[in-house]
Amino acid sequence: MDQAELLRQKASQHKNRTAMSEDGVAYVEGQQVRVLSITSGKGGVGKTNIVANVGLALARLGQRVLIFDTDLGLANIDILLGLSPQYNIGHVLSGEKRIEDVVVEGPGGMLILPANSGVDEVPALTEAQRMELLAQFENWDRQIDVLLLDTGAGIGPNVMYFNIVVQHIVVVTTPEPTAITDAYALMKVLSTRYQEKRFQLLVNMVKDEKQARDVYRSLAQVTGRFLDISLEFFGYVPRDPNITRAVTQRKALLDAYPDTPAAKLFTQLARNVLKMDIPKSPKGNIQFLWRHILRTG
Ligand SMILES: Nc1ncnc2c1ncn2[C@@H]1O[C@H](COP(=O)(O)OP(=O)(O)O)[C@@H](O)[C@H]1O
Ligand SMILES: [Mg+2]
Repeated sequence: MDQAELLRQKASQHKNRTAMSEDGVAYVEGQQVRVLSITSGKGGVGKTNIVANVGLALARLGQRVLIFDTDLGLANIDILLGLSPQYNIGHVLSGEKRIEDVVVEGPGGMLILPANSGVDEVPALTEAQRMELLAQFENWDRQIDVLLLDTGAGIGPNVMYFNIVVQHIVVVTTPEPTAITDAYALMKVLSTRYQEKRFQLLVNMVKDEKQARDVYRSLAQVTGRFLDISLEFFGYVPRDPNITRAVTQRKALLDAYPDTPAAKLFTQLARNVLKMDIPKSPKGNIQFLWRHILRTG
């Protein structure tokens, strides 16, 4: 079955999944976790930086964080954090390594599951490979409180694939018109083809909060008129040259320049994450999540 077919199935299953949540007592047992994707229509808007810094801020707030890098781009999260993982998800998919050999520990004890082109292969796995991988995830004994997915940009199948399994979709844009238009396009596809109806907007690289709220208002006006979705303001990060400086040092801003206004805003964003609900539904259950990522049963 190809990826397009899986996505079509997923789109048609969406309503069933909601129905299941009402009587799905079996699914709400087990480990509860907050699951967010950090995504965007346009590339280079700051997703990976946001994941790294919000992840670290969450870890400092005592959360057990797992970052799943699902982007195949060059500026991967491990590079940003100065890590040099030996293995990646591709080694797990090929059966060479187990999940615990591949996950690396980053600053603050954050766990990072590094990407490679293997992420692209997830939809093409055989049933036996899926079952094996699922068993590994389910038996992996690390407890997680927050799972952050760093996605690629755009409206390609891979980005869709990971956005539709999460509880909360955080769309990142900058004030640039092209970034805003692409954020709109992403939400349009996710809502019309995959029935995703709730989005959070994070505006990066702004002058100040007012500019961020202006971007939010103008985008919310358009989505309000043309799309059947809710768009909430999740927060903002100012344009700050220290972010680029920290990247050059291969450190999170929170490590390199903890006293900057941007660092404080990342901590604020982490607090916003902790205010998000953990649904009492299959979407709040880590096993259910892995099952959906791996599309088994
Ligand atoms: N708030 C910001 N201020 C200044 N530069 C930023 C900011 N956020 C991101 N950048 C820079 O923008 C570039 C792209 O960021 P990155 O996180 O890799 O984006 P994405 O993951 O969306 O492609 C990087 O060089 C990064 O340092
Ligand atoms: Mg990135």
